[in-house]
Amino acid sequence: MNKGLELSNITKYYTEGGNRITALDHVSISVAPGEFAAVVGPSGSGKSTFLSIAGALLKASEGEVHLNGHNISKLSDKELSGIRLKEIGFIMQSSNLVPYLNVLDQLLLVKKMSGKVTAEDKKFAVMLLEELGLGAKLKSFPEELSGGEKQRTAIARSLINDPNVILADEPTASLDTNRAYEVVSLIAKEVKSRRKAAIMVTHDERMLEYCDKVYHMEDGRLSLV
Ligand SMILES: Nc1ncnc2c1ncn2[C@@H]1O[C@H](COP(=O)(O)OP(=O)(O)OP(=O)(O)O)[C@@H](O)[C@H]1O
Ligand SMILES: [Mg+2]
Repeated sequence: MNKGLELSNITKYYTEGGNRITALDHVSISVAPGEFAAVVGPSGSGKSTFLSIAGALLKASEGEVHLNGHNISKLSDKELSGIRLKEIGFIMQSSNLVPYLNVLDQLLLVKKMSGKVTAEDKKFAVMLLEELGLGAKLKSFPEELSGGEKQRTAIARSLINDPNVILADEPTASLDTNRAYEVVSLIAKEVKSRRKAAIMVTHDERMLEYCDKVYHMEDGRLSLV
C-alpha cells in the first residue's frame, strides 16, 4: 500500500563564495496517496530545491524524507538512484524525450533500466498511452509531436514503473493555455485513479483548480494557502 510522501523539518543550505544561503527553512509537508498538491511562489524562493529533495535528487542539510513509510534521508547514492527509478515519476518543464525513440519506446526504455521488458510491460505502456490520448502516436518520434503530446508522453513515462510519487516542476511552462489545462487535468486524473502522491510546482495560478491543496513558498518557508 502506498503511504505517500512526507518531508519533516527540511532545511537546505547552499554555500556560494563562502556565503551560506538558506534555500529551505524547516519545510514540512505530507502528501497522501491520491492527493495532488501544488507549490507556488516567487523565483528563487526554493521551489526547485524543495522538489529535488522530495525526489531524492538532492540531500537535505537537516530533516527527514519518508517515502512510502521509509526514511530515505540516510540512504547511499546508489540506493537513492534505485528509489528514483522505481518509486518516483518526474515530469519536467520540457518533456526531455529521447529524440531517436518513438513514443512507445520512450516508456519501454525506462522499464528496461529497471529490468527486462515483458509482454505485460508493453501492454501496460500501450494502455497508459491510450489513456493519455496517444493511441494513434505510438510509433511517432518526438519531433512529430505537439508540445501537449510531448508532455502527455512524459506523463505516461512518469507512470510506467507504477511509482508511489509523482513530482512535476512547471509541467505547463512550454504550453499554451488550452494545452496546459489539458495536461494538468490529465495529471490530476492519473493521480486520482492510480492513487499517487503528487506535487506540482507552478507559476500558473489557473492550474490550481485541479489541485487539492495549494502551498506557498516564500524565502524557503512553506505554508498552506
Ligand atoms: N546549486 C546551487 N548553489 C547555490 N545556490 C543555489 C543553488 N541552487 C539554488 N540556489 C539558490 O537557492 C535559492 C532557491 O533556488 P531554487 O532554484 O530552489 O528557487 P525556485 O523557487 O525554484 O526559483 P524559480 O522559480 O526561478 O525556478 C535561490 O536563492 C538560489 O539562488
Ligand atoms: Mg525552479
